[in-house]
Amino acid sequence: MREDHPVRYDDHRECWDVFRYDDVDRILDDPETFSSDPRLASTIDLPPEDEQSPIMETMLLTDGDRHDRLRGVVEDWFRPRAIAGRAARFEEIAADLLDDAVEGGRMDVIDDFAYPFPVIVIAELLGVPSEDRPQFRRWSETLVETPTDTSEAATEAYQERQQEASEELAEYFEEKLDARAREPRDDLITVIAEAASEDRLTHEEALGFCMLLLVAGNITTTNLIGNAMRCLTAHPTALERVRDGSVSIESAVEEVLRYRSPVQALARIATEPVELRGTEIEAGDVVVPWLGAANRDGDVFADPGEFRIDRAPNPHFGFGRGTHYCLGAPLARMEARIGLNALFERAADIERRGETLQPVRSAFIYGVEEFPIE
Ligand code: HEM
Repeated sequence: MREDHPVRYDDHRECWDVFRYDDVDRILDDPETFSSDPRLASTIDLPPEDEQSPIMETMLLTDGDRHDRLRGVVEDWFRPRAIAGRAARFEEIAADLLDDAVEGGRMDVIDDFAYPFPVIVIAELLGVPSEDRPQFRRWSETLVETPTDTSEAATEAYQERQQEASEELAEYFEEKLDARAREPRDDLITVIAEAASEDRLTHEEALGFCMLLLVAGNITTTNLIGNAMRCLTAHPTALERVRDGSVSIESAVEEVLRYRSPVQALARIATEPVELRGTEIEAGDVVVPWLGAANRDGDVFADPGEFRIDRAPNPHFGFGRGTHYCLGAPLARMEARIGLNALFERAADIERRGETLQPVRSAFIYGVEEFPIE
């Protein structure tokens, strides 16, 4: 695709797929021409404004000053130094989970660890009880799901599921925001509630904020840890080198982000007619930069199909690029480091059990549903 059809129209999903590194870079670097706001798309049917999810009011789906105002509310919380101060607590969470998980030498990397770990972390940062995590999982999975069956009945059922998950999640956070406005604590919901009470955020924006942070930070990090275990068990020499310290775990995690990117694709809307590699794109068209494909572009990465844990430099798009560059990247990197170290410490030999792997049901999230090891 990258070679023969670097920019191609997908009739089924009604969008332009873009595969090459340079083109993906250009799109992410130019938010004025390639907007993140789905309301500008001519092919996306959104519900009427008063029925839209608060997720529509988040930094992820806005541009320009509004985006910067929203992002500015929590930016300090996610800076590497602020996150690093919480490392000891995150290590404790990882150790507790593994104490419970490893039973008779067997565990499922996803269910027993890679899923609960980032959820407990983000729940603590937000200030919500991590015991509510079965609900978080259901809501998050529904919100990142993309339907494979595009029949009318299936689409309707899918939209209903999304609407329901979004309403439940909004209701859940509504209550938490009220509680923090009355009684502030040292957590992100308090920061968001305060910004709302000072009119730096509307009520909808505050709700969307909580929803975005919960959802953005969990399925993605689950898949980074899962994909890392998958890459390393498939490359025993690499695993050995990470475990004996000859290559840093940080470097290996960057290569996992490139080689098996948990977020495979993003979406942008052309705000004006634009030409991309000789193809005319109209205003309102949806453009999909494929991070996973660009991350294997041979013009930028030598032997792109090889998993090389000491690749340097490694300018992958795993966390995107530009103004929307992942806010949680420092947190996700730290969770991956702590999580993988904890797994390596406890297991003398890590081997994947022979079952076939089931991919996550989403077109843009890449990972597996289960990953049993012993
Ligand atoms: C944005 C990936 C973890 C919060 C993004 C984007 C990517 C991404 C590719 C860019 C979206 C775009 O340009 O449209 C990932 C991956 C993760 C991860 C692969 C884990 C391995 C997290 C975590 C959080 C988080 C832990 C924090 C709770 C966000 C937010 C944005 C974002 C709020 C929107 C930023 C903006 O619009 O300015 N992420 N993410 N992510 N991520 Fe992450």
